[in-house]
Amino acid sequence: MDSFKFDREITQLAVLQRNELLSSTSKKIRKFFGRYLFTKFISRYLINPSRASEQYYNLMSEEISTITNFLDKRTNILSIGSGIGGLECLILEKYNDTKVNFIEKNYVSRKVKYGWDASNFEAYNSLSVLNNFLLTNGINQERFEIFDCDKDSYPNKKYDLIISLYSLDYHYDFNIYKEYLKTVSTDNTVFIFDTIRPDYFNQLFEDIFVLKNDEQTVHKSKRLVCKIFKND
Ligand SMILES: C[S@@+](CC[C@H](N)C(=O)[O-])C[C@H]1O[C@@H](n2cnc3c(N)ncnc32)[C@H](O)[C@@H]1O
Repeated sequence: MDSFKFDREITQLAVLQRNELLSSTSKKIRKFFGRYLFTKFISRYLINPSRASEQYYNLMSEEISTITNFLDKRTNILSIGSGIGGLECLILEKYNDTKVNFIEKNYVSRKVKYGWDASNFEAYNSLSVLNNFLLTNGINQERFEIFDCDKDSYPNKKYDLIISLYSLDYHYDFNIYKEYLKTVSTDNTVFIFDTIRPDYFNQLFEDIFVLKNDEQTVHKSKRLVCKIFKND
């Protein structure tokens, strides 16, 4: 496989979740028509699904290569803010014993804006599209479970790996999930997430390692690998 199966709904969400998929022309169109029209119509009807799928596949292949060292024997994974789940799809495809729990939002904001969202109202996902994306790309329903961040009770088990790319502490405060994450992690759990304030985590975790630096992007961030919550 060197691309994902995409329909228009999947394409729309993918381009909202990953700006990199937009050509400079699409960005100009967004500026010209405004974010509302872009979010509702242009992202859905004017973007070519097969081109977006190929680019999204390439992006997710790059992402999995940054974390490969942390995937072996990590059979229970929690993903927070996965988007349509391309990275998790590649993980599930490669590691047969692995299962993934997703916590995500189930709506698309009226006009999607990017940045630090203190009230955490910004969202651009649909849980049925996430479910459909995984199934149509060959992942068996028994290998994943999806939880609505605003409505469901969160899964209560211990995870080997907790991952959140460009979501937790990139767009909204890690502390929203902090107490929950303490209950579902052990000293062996690895956390991988992108943050715009890496130094903040020195007070929270015993072990911290910087996996990646995003200095060229609008929101400068670092991808951290952390282990073991410090005692309060
Ligand atoms: C920039 S996208 C990143 C998606 C994906 N991780 C990726 O790397 O392509 C951020 C995602 O976080 C989701 N999100 C926002 N607030 C959330 C929350 N409190 N819990 C879980 N997901 C959230 C959004 O709906 C969106 O899908």
